[in-house]
Formats: sequence, structure tokens, C-alpha cells
Amino acid sequence: MSAAEDFAPGFEPTPNDLEAFWIPFTPNRSFKRRPRLITGARGMYYETAEGRAVIDGTAGLWCCNAGHAREPIVNAIQKAAATLDYSPSFQFSHPGAFSLASRLADMAPGDLDHVFFANSGSEAVDSALKIALAYHHIRGNGSRTRLIGRERGYHGVGFGGISVGGIVNNRKFFGGLLGGVDHLPHTYSREHQGFTKGEPDWGAHLADDLDRIVALHDASTIAAVIVEPMAGSTGVLPPPKGYLKRLREICDRHGILLIFDEVITAFGRLGFATAAERYGVVPDMITFAKGVTSGAVPMGGVIVRKPIYDAFMQGPDHMIELFHGYTYSAHPLAVAAGLATLELYRNEGLFERARELEALWAEASMALKELPNVADIRTVGLATAIDLEPRPDAPGLRGYEVMERGFHDHAVMIRVTGDTLALSPPLIVSEEEIAAIFEGVGRVIQEVP
Ligand SMILES: Cc1ncc(COP(=O)(O)O)c(C=O)c1O
Repeated sequence: MSAAEDFAPGFEPTPNDLEAFWIPFTPNRSFKRRPRLITGARGMYYETAEGRAVIDGTAGLWCCNAGHAREPIVNAIQKAAATLDYSPSFQFSHPGAFSLASRLADMAPGDLDHVFFANSGSEAVDSALKIALAYHHIRGNGSRTRLIGRERGYHGVGFGGISVGGIVNNRKFFGGLLGGVDHLPHTYSREHQGFTKGEPDWGAHLADDLDRIVALHDASTIAAVIVEPMAGSTGVLPPPKGYLKRLREICDRHGILLIFDEVITAFGRLGFATAAERYGVVPDMITFAKGVTSGAVPMGGVIVRKPIYDAFMQGPDHMIELFHGYTYSAHPLAVAAGLATLELYRNEGLFERARELEALWAEASMALKELPNVADIRTVGLATAIDLEPRPDAPGLRGYEVMERGFHDHAVMIRVTGDTLALSPPLIVSEEEIAAIFEGVGRVIQEVP
């Protein structure tokens, strides 16, 4: 266990009061009764307030793809903090922002070559939706205002993101949301896809629903379609084979922009820099966040195709072309973390590593198939979801208990949404650590009634 002087001020293992902090997306009362406090992180492991090591089965929240407290990233952040703590993001900038944008543009496929920076996935999504609307507006297609999302989609928590998102609890409390939004059907069918490794054979036809939506509203009213290439937060739904290509074709036919929300899938989760690359489909925009800094400093953004950027570059030179941005867009600390992270991904070949481990990871995931209450398992890249049968009287409780006991009793961090467990380790995970993660998860599933 670390000594008291090892902690940043206020980070000592026992906070004097748990009440004031309203914890996001967390049952606060239950958490505060038996907190899951993390005080340190290194490589594949967290350290708890009690001094226990917990293996990180989830890369934090799908973000710490390079593992924790990696020296090159830490050094870059420290250096930036000491040399350029902040520079205004409107009307001024700093060299690092241009370097990182160029690196991201190089990494993205096709002519996706301009980068707009934000600070989170939610902001990235709002930025992409606004760019889509403004793009049509400036090209004289102001009637194209509809946005199309997908059932079970997660695009963060801004009003744009929850409007195009398709997770009921994230929507139902928050009023009318954005107008003019419609949704594609989700792509999951347990009957046709149960226990599939990778992309399921069944379901490409579900993309054709976009034609139905176009027939209903007319293409001239539709600005963009946004989907996660692999739906992560709802429980790892890899796209059916051919689905994304069909979506691209239909969008092209109707002049509709296609946005891939790659907040989870970019930076190696599926064994490639982007899911667009894995699936050979070039969208008009890619949103990113999380893995761009390996979670070390908040950052998000949108990579847009050249014709979209070019469409804005008109009018008097001194006029702002896009009335959008954030105080902390391309914050120097985030940029420093981003540059160091991309370098580390490349030097250690972490995207390729994820690709090489995919088969073994899928095998280890499916080995849990026969355990009690396991209703389905899905895997793709280094991501797995395990659906547990909900208890009839208490949906979500079985999943919650598995996550809780995993942390307290089996030294493994598991992500849970409802009764679905999700696993997505840092890409540095070793074969032994994969075995350890699934051993822990398997034991806790067996233990929880
Ligand atoms: C696909 C996708 N979009 C957007 C977000 C929102 O990101 P953030 O929590 O950084 O706002 C997430 C977060 O998990 C995500 O998975």
C-alpha cells in the first residue's frame, strides 16, 4: 500500500465525507454504503483504498487502451503543465494542436482529414451533429434538418446525443429532446445471433430500414445518420456482416451524411485505428474521445472529410466559418497526452496486438457459456458482453452484484449495464491476464445466485 505522502492533496484513501459528491451513472446510496474507491493505477491494475490490486477488465470506461500511468504519457502531461498550461482556443492556438490534428488525420481512412477538438464523447457527438446541420445549411439545403440515430445507440449525454441515442432511461426523464429525430432498428437478435464471435451473419438487411425512413420523411429533410459501428455501451453489438456498407450506400444514394461514433471503437479496440478501417467503410465524420489520450486527460473530437471542411471555407476571410467551439478545445495537456498516446500505440504496436489477441480473447469469453444464468455472450476485437438472465423480481440486481463482488472479492473490474456485463481490457493485456480476468468473472458469476 502506498504511503500517505504518495497521494495528491485530498486523494488520501479515506475521504472524510462521501455525501457531497453526486456520482454520475451510479446508484449513490448503494455506493456510499460500501464504496468502491480507487487510489492508484499502473499498467493493467488498479489499487483500491484498502491497498488491494484489482485487474482492470474494462480499460477504465473503455478508455485506458495503453494501460495506466504510462511513463511517456505522464511525462508529456507534466511537461505541458509546466510549459503551457493553457492557451485560448478561439482566435489563438498552439503548435501541438496542429501536430495532433495531423496525426489523427493521417490515422483516419480516406479523405477524413480535418479535426475539430472537443473535451468528451458527448461534446464530440454534439459537434458532429451541428457540423452536419450547418453543412447542409451553408450549401443551400436548409431543409435537411432531421437526424437519424438507432435504437440501443449510446452517443453520450448531451441533448443531441440522447436525442439520437436509443437507450430509454437516458431519454425518458428529459422532456421532448431534439425535434425531427428518427431511429433505425437495433441490430440484435438473440434468436439469430446468440453466442456469435465477431460480426454476426444475420442482420445486414436491417440497414434497409433507412430506405423506409427516407420514404417516410423524404431525403430532402434528412441531414445525417449517426451510428456506433459497434454498439458498445448497450452491450457490445458488433455490426452484422455487410450492414455498414449498406448503410453507406443508402446514405450516398440520398445525399445523407454518415457519422460513425467511434468514441469506443477508435484507437485499437477492434484491432485497427478505427472501425471504419476494420469494416472498409469511410463515413463522412468520425467522432472520437476516450482512447485518444488513453483516458489520461479528457479529450474528444470529430474528424471530417475534406469536402465538408472545404464547404465551410468561404465568405470573407476575417469571418468565423463555424460558430462552435469549447474553451478547452485542444487543451495543451490533452494534446500532450494525445500525442504521447498515439506514439505509444505505434511504438508498441497495440492495435495489431489487439488484432492478434482477438481469437484467444473470444475463446476465453465463450468458455463462460455454460455458467449459470448466462443468456448470451458476444465478442469482437478486445470487447465482450455477457448477458445474464435478469431476476424476475429485480432486473439489474444480478448484474450489479456481479460487478460489486467482482471488485470487492475477486479483484476484477467489470462494467455493468442492467444485467449485461462488459469487458474491454487495456490493449497491453497479456495472455495470462486474459486468463485471470475470465477466471475472476467466471467465479463471481457462479457465486452470485
Ligand atoms: C459511442 C459513444 N459516444 C459517446 C460517448 C460519450 O462520451 P463521454 O462520456 O466522454 O461524454 C460514449 C461514452 O461511453 C460512447 O461510448
